Amino acid sequence: MASVSEIFRTMAYGPAPESAASAEAWLDEHGRDFGLFIGGTWCPPAEGERLETVNPATGKPLAHVAQGGAADVTAAVAAARAAAPAWAAASGHVRARYLYALARGLQRQSRLFSVVESLDNGKPIRESRDIDIPLVARHFYHHAGWAQLLAERLPGYGPCGVVGQIIPWNFPLLMLAWKIAPALAVGNTVVLKPAEFTPLTALLFAELCVQVGLPAGVVNVVTGDGRTGQALVEAKVDKIAFTGSTEVGRHIRIATAGTGKKLSLELGGKSPFIVFEDADLDSVVEGVVDAIWFNQGQVCCAGSRILAQESIAERLVAKLRARMETLRVGDPLDKAVDIGAIVAPVQLERIQRLVRQGEEEGATMWQPSWSCPTEGYFYPPTLFTNVAPASTVAQVEIFGPVVVLMTFRTPVEAVKLANDTRYGLAASIWSENINLALDVAPKVKAGTVWINCTNVFDAASGFGGYRESGFGREGGLEGLFEYLKAPTDDASPAAAPRPGGPAARPSSPVAPGDTAPLAPPPIDRTAKLYIGGKQARPDGGYALTVLGYDGTAVGEVGRGNRKDIRNAVEAAHKGASWAGATAHLRAQVLYYVAENLAAREREFADRLARLTGAAPADAAHEVEAAIERLYQYAAWADKWDGAVHRTPMRNVTLAMPEPVGVMGVVCPDHAPLLGFVSTVFPPLALGNRVVAIPSEPWPLLATDFYQVLETSDLPGGALNIVTGRKAELVPVLAAHDDVDGIWYFGSVEGSGEVEQLSAGNMKRTWVDYGRARDWFAPSSAGFEFLRHATEVKNIWVPYGE
Ligand code: NAI
Repeated sequence: MASVSEIFRTMAYGPAPESAASAEAWLDEHGRDFGLFIGGTWCPPAEGERLETVNPATGKPLAHVAQGGAADVTAAVAAARAAAPAWAAASGHVRARYLYALARGLQRQSRLFSVVESLDNGKPIRESRDIDIPLVARHFYHHAGWAQLLAERLPGYGPCGVVGQIIPWNFPLLMLAWKIAPALAVGNTVVLKPAEFTPLTALLFAELCVQVGLPAGVVNVVTGDGRTGQALVEAKVDKIAFTGSTEVGRHIRIATAGTGKKLSLELGGKSPFIVFEDADLDSVVEGVVDAIWFNQGQVCCAGSRILAQESIAERLVAKLRARMETLRVGDPLDKAVDIGAIVAPVQLERIQRLVRQGEEEGATMWQPSWSCPTEGYFYPPTLFTNVAPASTVAQVEIFGPVVVLMTFRTPVEAVKLANDTRYGLAASIWSENINLALDVAPKVKAGTVWINCTNVFDAASGFGGYRESGFGREGGLEGLFEYLKAPTDDASPAAAPRPGGPAARPSSPVAPGDTAPLAPPPIDRTAKLYIGGKQARPDGGYALTVLGYDGTAVGEVGRGNRKDIRNAVEAAHKGASWAGATAHLRAQVLYYVAENLAAREREFADRLARLTGAAPADAAHEVEAAIERLYQYAAWADKWDGAVHRTPMRNVTLAMPEPVGVMGVVCPDHAPLLGFVSTVFPPLALGNRVVAIPSEPWPLLATDFYQVLETSDLPGGALNIVTGRKAELVPVLAAHDDVDGIWYFGSVEGSGEVEQLSAGNMKRTWVDYGRARDWFAPSSAGFEFLRHATEVKNIWVPYGE
């Protein structure tokens, strides 16, 4: 028997197992065989196929679940469709009551949910009990509030309709909550497909839906593997919400492109964990435990890349190794266990393969001296040092308890290393100098930044990534938009503009015999492209003739090509000073642009009349409207504020809108001046740099505009204009890996093509599917445009001693 002092020294403790009795009884009640939950009832899969779900801590089967096929998915979507009108029409208060009831029900059965989760997934009961399930309940409570407030906070917005939701196995019930709570709150109905390794808590949740009397068909659960997910993506749903691997996310992006289905993707990560030399190293060590050994490292935002300042790296490694020796790996139902089981053999093999590869590439691998249980799928905490930034273990998401450590000397170098990744989900910054931490936070390309903490989540704070970590946010107000349709989303298709004939305009068409057309000016010069603040000849050396409304030539513009787009993107990247400019300065520049446009009002109005055939009064009205819109975005530049979220921890959670980065803007063909100003200036106002492709039939308004820019102090590279054939230019812009986002106003086919080509680097897209838009209407400016021009970064700063 160990002495007290011995126990005190080793801090060893005996097993403290949680009982699995009620979970086992629940499985037995169902004969360990579950059907599909469709339209409020349980039914067998049409094709009779079944999947086995296994306890990863023992390798023993837990139950069988249905492998849903295409017919089952169709039936579930039909049930959701049938339930949709009544659910959407219910008052916000009614929906709030149901969400509240779900939250209460979850809390009442919280222990059963936690034990089932730990059995099915292998995560320690301490985590499922203290983190997953409380966050799940919180998510339903918080969104009950949004159901109540929706009409007041976002008038005119409505649900998308039927939403297909596909979730992974790492946080089965939490991901369900992140998906279902916001969708239901704003009036959608859902078909959820849980991951094949972890379907059980979703089925338990389906029972809860019955218990609280949720109307049949509002929530449907179709279990199955990737084939079921694929069928759901292809089904007649209005939106897909997906969390999982970047590879599958990319397939879904391509499969949904051009279908009009809304899409949000929450994908992988390789998040940096930056430690400055003045950080409290003991807190840092506990931070690393939470960053990479939480949930066995199977966390999309795991801090899997420690970047340590050189001066403290050695000390940190020593402390980490000492702490790793004390971590306990074992039975997930043991309350004293830190690290549970890896979800499945395939995941364990992936971890083992990547670790082997790390060693082969020359990194130093270190694991504690103890060994893991041999029954079940376990892997020890692992630390790599001497890691090259470009090596496999530093770049690839391992999704296991494996962390790499690299060093840096200066904050600039830390930011460079932090951003040296395809991903952009989260980051953690450790320093006792809050000024330094808040300086670095915005420079790291990541959706969430935790300062002196890590892996904290809350329903009030949005979560989501950049780059190959996907797009869209979950949680908070930002997350609601993923499940909402904007008031303008239902417009009917636009008619194509007709150069060389009377212009198709939404208002005031030219009446026959209207004012006499202006005399055609001579073709005296070819407008150039505008790249990096300079006029540039098109690389290909070709020009396009621009016709007026009467079919006569009015001028020529350069026919840009692939190389011109590349040059423009490069110039935009070099124009970083615009992103760094203060909001006040950006506002000043926009006012100046408006002032310089006003000085040439007459000239622009004449040009419009000559090209589109608009009556002089209408042409003048368009220029006036463009000037007003510039004023509007100048006004917004320093007023598009963030928020401080009321997360329940001792924390300020700063929600900071930040520019998307370098954006492509494919301007509408209609309203060639107002459409250009309305689409190019919202991103510019908020600090993005823009590569614009102007109206194809009437590009001269944009090329005239660069002369306005040249007198307006807009720094070179902030706005670049490439004229030419959209069919040639848009695909290059949409596929470009250094473009972070793209807006497209044009045809249905063009919208689909942009979505499809964006899949390479997962740039965010905003396309209009060829819908008509009145560019003069108030809804063609403001909120929606500003929202799509920014991403919200959530920065968590805890307080207290
Ligand atoms: P996965 O992306 O294949 O699975 C996620 C979900 O997508 C599951 O429900 C799955 O059934 C479904 N799915 C699979 N193929 C599909 C398809 N073609 N169409 C629609 N749905 C489909 O992830 P998997 O295979 O479980 O894990 C592979 C790797 O992905 C992991 O090693 C890890 O690196 C990463 N991963 C990242 C997650 C994250 O939260 N970021 C979550 C899960 C995995």
